[in-house]
Amino acid sequence: MDPELIYLDNAATTFPKPPGVLEAMMARYRQIGVSPGRGSYDRAAEAEGVLHQAREKLARFFGAPDPDRVIFTANATDSLNLVLSGLLQPGDHVVTTRLEHNSVLRPLHHLQQRLGISCSLVPFSGEGFIDPDDVAAAIRPETRLVVVNHASNVLGTVQPVGDVGGICAARRIALLVDASQSAGKVPVDMAAMKAYAVAFTGHKSLYGPTGIGGLVLHPELEIAPTRFGGTGIESSSRVHTPRYPHRLEAGTHNLMGIIGLILGMDYLMGRGLAAVHGRETVLTERLRAGLSEIRGVELYGPTAASNRVAVLSVNIQGAAPEDVGAILDGDFNIAVRVGLHCAPLVHEALGTARRGAVRFSLGCFNTEADIDRAVAAMALIAGQHS
Ligand SMILES: Cc1ncc(COP(=O)(O)O)c(C=O)c1O
Repeated sequence: MDPELIYLDNAATTFPKPPGVLEAMMARYRQIGVSPGRGSYDRAAEAEGVLHQAREKLARFFGAPDPDRVIFTANATDSLNLVLSGLLQPGDHVVTTRLEHNSVLRPLHHLQQRLGISCSLVPFSGEGFIDPDDVAAAIRPETRLVVVNHASNVLGTVQPVGDVGGICAARRIALLVDASQSAGKVPVDMAAMKAYAVAFTGHKSLYGPTGIGGLVLHPELEIAPTRFGGTGIESSSRVHTPRYPHRLEAGTHNLMGIIGLILGMDYLMGRGLAAVHGRETVLTERLRAGLSEIRGVELYGPTAASNRVAVLSVNIQGAAPEDVGAILDGDFNIAVRVGLHCAPLVHEALGTARRGAVRFSLGCFNTEADIDRAVAAMALIAGQHS
C-alpha cells in the first residue's frame, strides 16, 4: 500500500483490511477450500462447519434467534433485492425514506413498474433524521413492508430504527433495515430494533473482502426464493428446497469471502466495536471542527456527535466536487468520494442534486494526522476558489 495515501473513502469500502486478515484468509482457504456441504469427505464437512460457525457468529452479532435464517449473499444490494423481490406482491405498499441508497430505490422502482406495488417516501430533517411519526402516518392498510436505512452513507446519521420497529410491530408490518453503513460501527440488534430483516455487506465496516454479504431474517418472515439451483440437499427433486438457509442460497458459496468476513469481524470485536466507534467519532468531530473554520466550506448533516457514524459530506463554494476530489487525489494523495453517492434523494433534499458533494468517510485505521492533512488540503483548495 502507498504509505502516504490518506484513505477517507471507507463508506465505499474499508481499506486497508486489518493486518493479517488477507493472509489468514488465504491460508485457511488453502487448507479447506473445497465445496461446502456437497461432499461426504472430511474436508467438505470442515468447510460446511466454517459456514455453520459463521452463521452462528452472525446470528449472535445481529441479535437473531436462528442461525439458519442467516443467508449468505454477494453484498447488501443482493440481500435487499432478495427481500424486496421475494416478499412483495402486486398491490403491496411499501414505506421507505428519502435517505435510501439506490440499492433500495432501484429495486422498488423496478417492482413498481413490474408488479404495480406502490411506495411512500418519508422525508428527513435538516440534520438528516427521519421522524418515526412520519412512518406511522405513511402506513396504509395495504402496507406490507417498511424499509429504513440505518445509517446514511451521505450524512452519517443513525436513524431511530427501534422506534420505527415498535410502530411496525404494533401494526404487524415487517421492518427491513439496511445496515450497510451501520454494521460494525454501531450495534445492529434485530430484537432491539424489532426488525424482521437486516441486510448487511461484508466489505465495509465489518472489514471483510468484497463479494460477501448477508441477510438476517426473523423466523416469522417467509421470503420466496428468487433463484433456484443446486443446494447439495434434496437433489432428486425438481423443486428448490423450502428449508432455510438453502431456500435462499442457490449455488456454491463464497467460502473464501465468508472466511474473510469472519476474520474481519474477529479483528473488529478484538478491538471492541464501541472503542472503534468512539475513536472514529472523535476524529469525525476533529474533521468537522477543522472544516467549519474554513471560509467557503459548506457542511451537511448533523452538528452533534451523537447518533452518527464517521461520514461527513461537504462542498467548497465555487468549486465542483469532482474538481475538489481530483485535487485532493492528485496534489495531496487523499482519497474521497464525490458525486451523488448513489443516494440521489438525499442530495435533492440538500440542494446538491446537480453537483453532488465531497464525502469524507473514516475507518478504524485513520489518525489525527490524516484528519489534519485533509483539513489543511481543503483550506488550500478553498483559498484558491474564494
Ligand atoms: C446505505 C447503503 N446501502 C446499500 C449499499 C450497497 O452496498 P453493496 O455495494 O456492498 O451492495 C451501500 C453501499 O455504499 C450503502 O451505503
